[in-house]
Amino acid sequence: MKAVEIYKNGGPEVLQYEEAAKPQINPDDVLVKVYASGVNPIDYKVRNGDGRYAGAFPRILGWDFSGVIEQTGSKVQDWKPGDAVYGRPDINRNGTYAEYVAVRADEIARKPKSIDHKAASGVALAGLTAWQGLFKYGMLQPEQRVLIHGAAGGVGIFAVQLAKAKGAYVIGTASEKNILFLEELGADEVIDYEKEDFSARLSDIDLVFDTRGGKVQQDSIKVLKPHGVLVSTVGIRYPETLKTKDIRGAAFMAQSVPADLQQIADLIDRGVVIPVVSEIFSLKEAAKAQQLLEAGHTRGKIVLQVAE
Ligand SMILES: NC(=O)c1ccc[n+]([C@@H]2O[C@H](COP(=O)([O-])OP(=O)(O)OC[C@H]3O[C@@H](n4cnc5c(N)ncnc54)[C@H](OP(=O)(O)O)[C@@H]3O)[C@@H](O)[C@H]2O)c1
Repeated sequence: MKAVEIYKNGGPEVLQYEEAAKPQINPDDVLVKVYASGVNPIDYKVRNGDGRYAGAFPRILGWDFSGVIEQTGSKVQDWKPGDAVYGRPDINRNGTYAEYVAVRADEIARKPKSIDHKAASGVALAGLTAWQGLFKYGMLQPEQRVLIHGAAGGVGIFAVQLAKAKGAYVIGTASEKNILFLEELGADEVIDYEKEDFSARLSDIDLVFDTRGGKVQQDSIKVLKPHGVLVSTVGIRYPETLKTKDIRGAAFMAQSVPADLQQIADLIDRGVVIPVVSEIFSLKEAAKAQQLLEAGHTRGKIVLQVAE
């Protein structure tokens, strides 16, 4: 099969589009023919050699897919060849920049029916992150005020729509070019982070969803109400400050939970959540796709089309 592999860490130039062995499946796996693969920051973090995700070479990157089951392992009962599925496979295994991926049967869900594979391939990783950050770790309730940083990005577009669907008051940060876009997506307020200090405008926030870290996280603590919650996709840097202000902090790594994937798919099929894909590249163009994502200003998702 064709795949994009790395043999060492480095820049986008270490990605090699080449022939690779089709994955072997374990008894509790399914083999999925990948139609499209989402591209996420973790892909270039692994490529760059981020120690949290170290693994053996050669390594196929990409942990976000939409495709069709081709084969099921001997212990798999819930799925059959021909089922259209999507998911976020285990980061410790080979990924989805490939024509086929082996993935545990208990990590996938039925693909949303109303969208094509390209749109669906960008949903699982970012959607799970938004879902679990808001509802599992943030315990967001209707009417609460939530501040979402990086609202126009891969995770942000799902967080804005899911928080809105829950009945929260949603405030997002983004640059000027994304203000109208986010208002149309449902944000009640959008703050242009290049022109305005959000911590001077806001107070009494129940939940901050932090996708940035650093100073953004530090300033976020100022706008949270006592007993508020700071959830972060990039780690908690100031635990002591949180403690003195009676704020709960939660850094988390999104998990592949099929029930969460199913609920996200249902919201998409009901038209409540709309995936946003800004760029589609071919598998061969994975390096170009990563370069663009790594520049840090993608609206919604970038995906790789693997099969027609
Ligand atoms: N822990 C987990 O399980 C998990 C899961 C997914 C992602 N993550 C991490 O979460 C982070 C975000 O992921 P992502 O997929 O959403 O990334 P992304 O799609 O690359 O985010 C790009 C967005 O960030 C916005 N942005 C850039 N600088 C900003 C700033 N100073 N303030 C507000 N927005 C800013 C950009 O908006 P403008 O163009 O308007 O500037 C752009 O829309 C990454 O570090 C990723 O590794 C963690």
